[in-house]
Amino acid sequence: MGGTSGIGLGIALELARAGFDVVVVGRNPARGAEAVRRLELAAGGAEDSSFAFARSDLSVVKNVKATCEAFMKQHARLDVLVMTQGRGSMMRWTDNGEGTHANIAVNYLGRVAAAFLLAPLLRASSDPRVLTVLAAGMHKPYVHAADDFAVREHFSFANQADAACSYTDVAFDRFATRFPKISTAHLYPGVVRTNWMIELPLSVRCLAWTLCGACLWTCVKSGDDVGVEFARALLLDEKSGGGGYRYVF
Ligand SMILES: NC(=O)c1ccc[n+]([C@@H]2O[C@H](COP(=O)([O-])OP(=O)(O)OC[C@H]3O[C@@H](n4cnc5c(N)ncnc54)[C@H](OP(=O)(O)O)[C@@H]3O)[C@@H](O)[C@H]2O)c1
Repeated sequence: MGGTSGIGLGIALELARAGFDVVVVGRNPARGAEAVRRLELAAGGAEDSSFAFARSDLSVVKNVKATCEAFMKQHARLDVLVMTQGRGSMMRWTDNGEGTHANIAVNYLGRVAAAFLLAPLLRASSDPRVLTVLAAGMHKPYVHAADDFAVREHFSFANQADAACSYTDVAFDRFATRFPKISTAHLYPGVVRTNWMIELPLSVRCLAWTLCGACLWTCVKSGDDVGVEFARALLLDEKSGGGGYRYVF
């Protein structure tokens, strides 16, 4: 999920090179078609591999559910679930139509929903793995979680980020406890040259560029490079059958 661009596409390409069939999920059909074309090239025309794009706005939990249910109808097993879907616009409250901020829904709620919904298919794999790429360990807990879980009353750029990231840390820790056979990780990628940075609000981008410096920005790793590193870590044999939870930053 989020495999049509950036780090997610980089991971998907490496999985294609390793012989996996891949379904990428995103909103943009043009990006989806281009991702499928690149996956086919990465697999070197292997006839037994299959690649597809599924269109879905994953900021709406009912869409996440529909996407997972459609996948479950078509597939009997899932070996690797990767979630890198991310959202740039985060300066003001944007309801997802279900009473949740769209950013929190895409970064946290939709990912947790997908992992739990797809758990039966993951458990059908001999060595299932789940990876969520957000900001493991980078944010402090959201202090109003007990009385304003949705960050409605105390919405700010910092609070929504603290909430989505710390909720994700906790939720996937619980997921790994609930499904010990499924190796689960939450990663922070650092600063990566992808559409995520390009689509951030202008004020945040200006701050990032000021901090990074334009020259340094050109040296920052690309989504393809980081995707290769993350996919190799994801597929390490040492984790085989181990289950457990890794939280890496
Ligand atoms: N790049 C960085 O420096 C950086 C730093 C820290 C954390 N991160 C985190 O790393 C993750 C991956 O980021 P990236 O840099 O690879 O970003 P990216 O290049 O912008 O890719 C994001 C992906 O998510 C999909 N997506 C976004 N909103 C969606 C929605 N509502 N429904 C379905 N798909 C959606 C996009 O596809 P469509 O456009 O087709 O929908 C795209 O495939 C994100 O969670 C981001 O927060 C990135």
